[in-house]
Amino acid sequence: MMPQTPKAFQSGATMKLIHVTDPHLVQPGGSLYGLYPDARFAAFVDDVNRSHGDAELCLITGDLTDLGEAEAYDLFAGELDRLVMPWRVILGNHDSRKNFRARFPACPVDDDGFVQDVVETSVGTLVLLDTNEPGIAAGRLCERRCAWLGRQLAAMEGQVMIAMHHPPFDVGIPRLDQIGLQDQAAFAETVLPHRDRIRHIFFGHVHRPVSGSWQGIGFSTLRATAHQVALHFDVRESLPGSHEPPAYAIVLVRDDAVIVHSHDFLDASPRFDMAKYDTKPWPK
Ligand SMILES: [Fe+2]
Repeated sequence: MMPQTPKAFQSGATMKLIHVTDPHLVQPGGSLYGLYPDARFAAFVDDVNRSHGDAELCLITGDLTDLGEAEAYDLFAGELDRLVMPWRVILGNHDSRKNFRARFPACPVDDDGFVQDVVETSVGTLVLLDTNEPGIAAGRLCERRCAWLGRQLAAMEGQVMIAMHHPPFDVGIPRLDQIGLQDQAAFAETVLPHRDRIRHIFFGHVHRPVSGSWQGIGFSTLRATAHQVALHFDVRESLPGSHEPPAYAIVLVRDDAVIVHSHDFLDASPRFDMAKYDTKPWPK
C-alpha cells in the first residue's frame, strides 16, 4: 500500500517554480570579480523565457544588486520586465531596502516596512521574508519580523513554502556561517510548530548548490547568476570565490514531492543521443 500524502499537502496541482539567486547587479556594463553580472542575468532571462516560459512563478532570493545602487536596480527592473512569467523577489544583505523600495514602490511590504509578503500559488502559500539588516552582512529576523511570520503562519491553511536570503541554519562553510542568520533560534521557534505543513525553504546567500533537510523540512539553494563561493569547509578568515558556472533551478512542487532540477544555463557542451551510441549489452 502506498503511504498517504499528508492532508495539508493535498492540492492536486503541480507547480513549476523557477528559483534563481544572487544576481549582484552593478552599474550597467560594470564587472565584479572578473565577471559581468548584467550579461549573466540577461542570459538567464533569455534562457528561462525560451525554455520555461510556462513556469507559474520566478523567485529571486536576494542580493539583487551588489552595492544597492539606484542604477543597478534600474538595470534589474529592465530585466524583470523581460521575464514572461510572474516574478517575486526578496532582499539580501547586499541590497538597499531604501533604494529597492524607491525603484519598486508596488512591491508589498509589511506594516513595519520590511519587504515581506505572502503569495498564493497553485500548491499553497509562499512566504517571502526580509533578512536584510543595513550595515551588516549577516541576516536578521528581528522580533518584529518574526512576529509577522508567526502571525502569517497561524492565519494560513494548507501547505507553506518559505523564501529567505540567509539560510536559517549553519551550512558548514565557516565564513558563510559567520555571516548567516543571527536569529536562528527565533526562526526555529516560530516555524517549527508548523513543521508538518512546511514543504520547503528556498534561500540564497551561499552561492553554491546545497540541499537537504533541516528539522525534517526540505531546503535548497544554488549557484548565483554572478560569482560563486568555492567549496571549502576549513577556511575561516576569508571567503574563497570561484568562477564555477551560474545556474537556475526548475522546481516542481506536487503533492508527493518537491523536485529541484539545477540548470547550468551557460553550458554549451555537446548534446548527444545516448541510445544511439550505447551499444553495450546490459549487465546480466
Ligand atoms: Fe550573494
